[in-house]
Amino acid sequence: MQDDDTGYHIPVLLERSTELLVTNPSGIYVDGTLGGGGHSRLLLSRLGEQARVFAFDQDDDAVQRAREVFAGDNRMVIIPGNVVHLKSILLQNEIRAVDGILLDLGVSSHQIDTPERGFSFRFDGPLDMRMDLERTMNAADLIADSSEEELANIFFSYGEEHGSRRIARAITRARQEQPIRETGQLVDIISTVTSPAHRKKTLARIFQALRIAVNEELHVLEQVLTQATEVLKVGGRLVVISYHSLEDRIVKHFMRDEAKPCICPPRMPFCDCDKVPRITLLSSKHIEADEYEVRRNPRARSARLRGCEKIHT
Ligand SMILES: C[S@@+](CC[C@H](N)C(=O)[O-])C[C@H]1O[C@@H](n2cnc3c(N)ncnc32)[C@H](O)[C@@H]1O
Repeated sequence: MQDDDTGYHIPVLLERSTELLVTNPSGIYVDGTLGGGGHSRLLLSRLGEQARVFAFDQDDDAVQRAREVFAGDNRMVIIPGNVVHLKSILLQNEIRAVDGILLDLGVSSHQIDTPERGFSFRFDGPLDMRMDLERTMNAADLIADSSEEELANIFFSYGEEHGSRRIARAITRARQEQPIRETGQLVDIISTVTSPAHRKKTLARIFQALRIAVNEELHVLEQVLTQATEVLKVGGRLVVISYHSLEDRIVKHFMRDEAKPCICPPRMPFCDCDKVPRITLLSSKHIEADEYEVRRNPRARSARLRGCEKIHT
């Protein structure tokens, strides 16, 4: 089944990612970002009775729903929490190595489309943006507690927003008048310092930046990639779907660096680094959704899939 007919989330690059991931139908797999469970569902359909899927989500809403959707399938182990704890959680479950790990990064459509979560500039709601509601700091706290310079750095580093200083200044001025706790307030403030032609893109970049900062997404991604290569079996695969250039850059560099046979400086006449590549890339370039998928699901437009196989411990 391709569509999530409940409207929770339409999985992106579903067939392609599952095809790349499964090497052993009775193996142990990790879905690091369970969401609406579309990828896990197809994965389970390709696996036998002996297989197991450890599926993580830090969002309690996704976990509750998945518990209902996958009730009765003993192969599915749902782990509420951040996949940054991948290695230790697997060890707690006496799993030392796995056959495949999938990371379908970012937020689900359900999270974006729920106004009370504050992820979208399209709806009025609290400036929250936490995937894990146990986190102490939400987007409103971040805006209240950061200096103008810190805000500008967040907008520039995590949103690649060139007007970051101007926007940070407008925010720090506005918060002297009243606390900024609603998405609508933030939209109004940004709108006063951006031209209508660029407004939507700027709002998307600022909301992305705040979300990344609140959930420490890039820092978590770097840690998960390292742990994933450690816990994969030789012959096991890591498949990652990312949705913006910052994520994709981290995945690309990580996989390329791990796959490099030599890290000697380019001017060295001979190799003496003794590096043994731990992985090989599954494709030289990232994989994108085709036109048909993008037409059905516009969210697939920005998706980039990269995969690698472990070849050495
Ligand atoms: C893009 S959705 C995944 C969609 C899923 N593949 C499907 O088919 O429905 C991302 C999900 O991963 C969760 N998530 C994001 N980062 C996470 C992390 N570091 N640890 C655990 N869950 C995470 C989000 O809460 C969200 O539910």
